[in-house]
Order: sequence, then C-alpha cells, then structure tokens
Amino acid sequence: MSITKFTEARGKYPVLEKYAYLDTATTGLISEESFNSMSGFLEKRYREGMDIPDYQANWKFADDARSLVGEAINAGEDEIFYADNCSAILNVFSTGVKPEEGANVITTDLSFPSTPYTWMNQAGKGIETRIAKSAGGQVPWETLISLVDEKTFALSLCAVENTSGFRHDLKRIGTFCRENNIYLAVDATQCIGALEIDVQAMNIDFLAVSSYKWLNNVFGIGFGYVSRELMKGIDQQYAGWVGNKDRFDHSRIRFDLDESARRYEMGGLNWIGLHGMKEALENYLSLGKKETEEYILGLTRYLYKKVEDARHIGVVGPFQEENRSGITYIQYPPEWRLNDGILRENGIRAHVASGNQIRVSVHFYNNTSDVDRLFDFLDTYKG
Ligand SMILES: Cc1ncc(COP(=O)(O)O)c(C=O)c1O
Repeated sequence: MSITKFTEARGKYPVLEKYAYLDTATTGLISEESFNSMSGFLEKRYREGMDIPDYQANWKFADDARSLVGEAINAGEDEIFYADNCSAILNVFSTGVKPEEGANVITTDLSFPSTPYTWMNQAGKGIETRIAKSAGGQVPWETLISLVDEKTFALSLCAVENTSGFRHDLKRIGTFCRENNIYLAVDATQCIGALEIDVQAMNIDFLAVSSYKWLNNVFGIGFGYVSRELMKGIDQQYAGWVGNKDRFDHSRIRFDLDESARRYEMGGLNWIGLHGMKEALENYLSLGKKETEEYILGLTRYLYKKVEDARHIGVVGPFQEENRSGITYIQYPPEWRLNDGILRENGIRAHVASGNQIRVSVHFYNNTSDVDRLFDFLDTYKG
C-alpha cells in the first residue's frame, strides 16, 4: 500500500492541522481542490453573472461528471442521476416500484431513518415494511434472510449502518436477491468515497448517495443509480423540464423523457456542490478504490488494537473484519460524562453518540496519529 499517497492527500485538508478529525460519518472535510473549484465557480457568477450559454455549460459539466460517478460504482453513465439528497433519491425507487398488494420490503432497525420512512410512506400502496432486529450493533445475514418470504420484493439497506458502523455483506445479499428475484436497494452514503461498491458485482438495482460525508462535499447534492433493467419497471412519479430528451428546446411542449436515468432530474442542480463533488471523485479515484478501502480498514484495525490496549474502553461489536467499515463505536464509562464539546476543546472531533459511546470515523485523510490523539486523551481523562 502506498502510504505516501495518503500522506499527500492529508495535506489538502486544513482542518487536520487543527484537529484530530474523526467525524466524517457526520460531515466529511472539504479538500483544497474542491474548495477552490466551488469558490471559483461562485466568484465567476458573482463577477460575471450567468447567461444561457453559461448555464448550458453547467449541464455539460454535469454530464461529463456522470462518467466519474459511474467509475466510482462500476455503472454506466446512463444509469446515474443527480438530486439534492439521499432521502429524495430513495423516493425515486420507493414511489416508483409497483409491487403486488401485500408485498413486503425488508430493512433493519439500525438504518438511517430515510430508508424505513420512505417505505412506511408507501403503506397505502399495500407495502409492508419489515424491520430486522439488530443485536450488538449487527444484523447478520441469517437474520435478514429469515424475514424473507414469497411476498418479499425488495431488501432496502444502508451499506454501512451509521448507528453502529456495521457493514453488510452486499455481495452475498445481492446474489441471494438476484437468485430470488428480489430487488436490492442500497443507501451508500456512509460508504462511497471510502469503501468499494460495485453495483454489478453486488447485484444492486438501486443506489442512493449523499456526497457530504465520505465524498467530502457540501450539502445539497448526491447521486442515484438505477440499473437499466429496473428503469423499465419504475413508474416515474415526478418530472420536470431537465428530464426531457431535449432539455433546451422550450419552443414547443413535447413531453418525452430521456431514456437514461437523467429522466429523474427535475430542475437546475446544485452547481456549486457538483463542482465540489467532481473534485472529490477525481481525488478518490486517483487514490484508488481498492487502496483507499484497504487504507481505511487498516486504520480501523489499528483502532481495534488501541481499544484492546486501552483501560476502560470497549468496542461495539466487535465485528468480524468483513463487517467493519470506516465507522467504529467505542464505549467508555458513562460517569465520564463526555460530549462533543469536550472532545473538541481537546482537539478531537468525533461524535459522542450516547451516554457511553463515541462514534469514531476514519477516512483516507486520517492517520494513526489522529487515532492516538483520541486514545491519549481518553487515557488521561478523569471525567
Ligand atoms: C446512511 C445515511 N444515509 C443518508 C444520510 C443523510 O441523508 P440526506 O442526504 O437525505 O440528508 C445519512 C446521514 O447521517 C446517513 O447516515
């Protein structure tokens, strides 16, 4: 593994000069390149305004960036659409599918709420939402599969559960889904930019991603993936002007949605955010998908080792290596009364998730010294 690449990457995130930033699961850091690209775009708009040719150039920029998104998840650019946030993206699938009355979808009690809520909102269509129960921050494959019956039409999962850091075995789940004619929908917000997702190898039909965490970007821009096959089976609920085949001819009304996934885009995009996302994707791809994942899982392994050697600290799980991610929850004695503010005053950014747990996230811009800093603090903290 080329550690130097990651050391070099670290230099692009000024926040790291100030803090041991271990909170990407809340919000990722913005790189120098993303910042310059976004502020450059804003500066131009501020100084020059924007006319129709400039505006149309934005769409060219968006279309060009689709191939980078495709490369990140191994999809075709025609299977990618942009939207404001992960929750909105998930609704393209949940509102668009047409399962039979009494069909069920399976998710987990660890999920970020948007996943169960988008399905619960479809109860009127006769869709039952089944929620697999976790134990010790995990939902093993067997638990998920035990809820499946002949009426199951989809599994809808967060690739990495933000409430515990548990990472599902999507390859295994996807194979099962494909063999049983069940859709697999995935929220990969806590994953893309860090851990590899290959929609083809994992048989994923639908994917939703917000870019402000592991893709190190601003809020208000994300992307969805819809497989070509699934696209044929979705009844599109919303449409706007940019989903039309010819986005720019407004001289006549002719409703003719594009054949590609951009049909789900409705209006103008968060162009600033798109500039940030493009830089972040380029950065991620140049580090290498596999190498980035290995680097991050290496840091998580290091963190597990620190827990073993620490006094009074435990780890939620602990998880098998294949179920680990960039997120680890560690436990401390509740009488310490920690909170995010105390950590921050001590130069550490991580999220105190409950009265005795800290959510620690490690990204490619972190290194072992960030993790050491957290454990040195915990070692001396008296509460
Ligand atoms: C798994 C997951 N999905 C999505 C989100 C955010 O969703 P949205 O982009 O809709 O705000 C979060 C935020 O914590 C998350 O953890």
